[in-house]
Amino acid sequence: MRTLLITGGAGFIGSHVVRKMVLDHPDTRVVNLDKLTYAGNLGNLKDIEGRPNYQFIRGDIVDAAFLEKLFRSHRMDGVIHLAAESHVDRSIADPMAFIQTNIMGTVNLLNACRRSWNDPEGKRFYHISTDEVYGSLGKEGLFKEETPYDPRSPYSASKASSDHLVRAYHHTYKLPVVISNCSNNYGPNQFPEKLIPLAINNILHMKPIPIYGKGENVRDWLYVKDHAAAIDLIFNKGTNGRTYNIGGMNEWKNIDLIRLLCDIMDEKLDRKPGTSAGLITFVKDRAGHDLRYAIDNSRIRDELDWYPAHTFEAGLTRTVEWYLSNPEWMQQITSGAYQTYYDRQYIQR
Ligand code: NAD
Ligand code: DAU
Repeated sequence: MRTLLITGGAGFIGSHVVRKMVLDHPDTRVVNLDKLTYAGNLGNLKDIEGRPNYQFIRGDIVDAAFLEKLFRSHRMDGVIHLAAESHVDRSIADPMAFIQTNIMGTVNLLNACRRSWNDPEGKRFYHISTDEVYGSLGKEGLFKEETPYDPRSPYSASKASSDHLVRAYHHTYKLPVVISNCSNNYGPNQFPEKLIPLAINNILHMKPIPIYGKGENVRDWLYVKDHAAAIDLIFNKGTNGRTYNIGGMNEWKNIDLIRLLCDIMDEKLDRKPGTSAGLITFVKDRAGHDLRYAIDNSRIRDELDWYPAHTFEAGLTRTVEWYLSNPEWMQQITSGAYQTYYDRQYIQR
């Protein structure tokens, strides 16, 4: 039985990846290592808790000694590394945790793999990264795997650093690695600091929906289960040393996306059409706000036969339905520290 370490498996994308690996690969022992920061939530994984091929370990990837011990006690065959500080606005307010976890934490994991993998045959370190490392596009063009790096926020700079370190360990020490850079994910279990779940929660409570600037920034949205499927494919079938861009070919201006979400919410909540859109409020722009991200996903489509299986309308409707049927999940997350974050981020804006 091979052992797969997944870091950050209690977070949004990580929990979908852990579930997929545990259920679709019963011959793989999945160890989920997560610090359980504000973004980590074991409630995301209740349905698989008792599975014989699943184990959760609480721990911090910044703690190199802890990682060395973990790698001595478990013979890891592969790592899918998702643990990170992931929110751009938090990185603008306080970059240091991003430097620690995203850069130092990644190097600690690389070192642990390098030390324990004397024979790299059959081993793999997979770094989950972001399209934000490529910078910002104008109205035209797409990010390709060869697009030069141009990170512009503390978050994207920390992810770019970790990508470079992963490639450097491949080049220098021949560590078997793969990297993927993905566009904006959405779906069940996303923490309500990100645009879509924040808007869903505010619409539900008839609170203002904050749109940065004029709402003209463009993102390429991908349903989280499509990302998890891509990760499974890349981990099992990708080529060593290769990078794969993952995206939905699904560009939306923020304001248009929020209008669509408002229409779906009005219908689901039996509200008069236009009720939720009345909550849209334009607020001070994000500092250094990247204008547009869009991914050319032809490599993963051509080489691994991956394509997004969910249309945006269907994925967004399923997402809204999930949040409406799981009010206790949102309730637990938005009490306490979330309120302090929200007030600092929005009320004083
Ligand atoms: P998230 O913030 O929801 O979850 C991050 C998880 O990492 C949490 O469970 C948290 O507890 C854990 N974590 C944080 N610091 C840790 C530490 N020091 N040690 C161990 N665990 C720690 O993030 P997400 O949105 O699910 O993103 C997961 C990964 O995917 C990140 O690497 C992110 O950069 C990348 N990514 C995200 C998106 C997106 O749209 N959300 C898109 C592309 C790539
Ligand atoms: O592109 C991939 C990246 O997508 C990931 O690497 C990041 O981890 C993830 O957080 C996400 O980054 P964004 O900054 O694009 O996501 P966010 O949901 O924060 O914002 C999406 C867009 O909506 C962005 O243009 C900013 C805008 N926005 C966001 C929030 C939270 C608003 O207008 N109002 C808001 O309140």
